[in-house]
Amino acid sequence: MTRHRIAFLNGSLRKDSFHGRLGLAIIAASNDRLAFITPSLDLPLYDPDLDGSDTPAWTAFRDSVRLVDGILFGSPEYNRSMTGALKNALDVGSRPYGQSIFTKKPAAVFSGSPGMTGGFGSNHHLRQSCVFLDMPVMQQPEAYWGLLDDEKLAADGTVNDEMLAKLVTGFAGALADWYDLIREGSGQLAGDPTQR
Ligand SMILES: Cc1cc2nc3c(=O)[nH]c(=O)nc-3n(C[C@H](O)[C@H](O)[C@H](O)COP(=O)(O)O)c2cc1C
Repeated sequence: MTRHRIAFLNGSLRKDSFHGRLGLAIIAASNDRLAFITPSLDLPLYDPDLDGSDTPAWTAFRDSVRLVDGILFGSPEYNRSMTGALKNALDVGSRPYGQSIFTKKPAAVFSGSPGMTGGFGSNHHLRQSCVFLDMPVMQQPEAYWGLLDDEKLAADGTVNDEMLAKLVTGFAGALADWYDLIREGSGQLAGDPTQR
């Protein structure tokens, strides 16, 4: 069994983030088929004038993501779009021009919200950016997990809601299958991450 090394990029900077909890729940449900690294998205704002200079937080972020097999985005919804932190991380990782860390990196997206719509707007704005960034994105199952609260989803990632647990388990299994498929079925997408 292959254990895929995934960068979990959580668009929330919040300590008690539901998306952070959902990341823990996905790992727990993955039966050891996934391992996460969690690079910080608390990055200085991207500024093209600084492309040639040393901005240590940008370099650390780019270097950590460059080495993984794939990316899992946890994408909270702010004003019907992705958070500024996540958009900034996309901008930082996509530059300098021609050196994007995202090109051909297999990705998946989940979003959640205490509201009804489960971060649908955020999820799809992010998918739009993934098209331009040339990232293959898992299409199904879609994950818009609405009506989240502390009872359904504890701080340690324990899911206390039958429906949410089923959705998270299904998503985690599909995610591991997706990375299996890419690695085994299409070597040119997977291969050695250091050679991308
Ligand atoms: C600035 C701001 C804008 C928000 N806009 C939306 C929104 O458009 N849709 C929505 O469902 N929730 C919205 N929310 C609520 C977030 O979904 C909620 O704070 C959620 O818990 C964020 O994810 P996190 O728990 O991982 O930080 C907004 C919250 C903030 C702080």
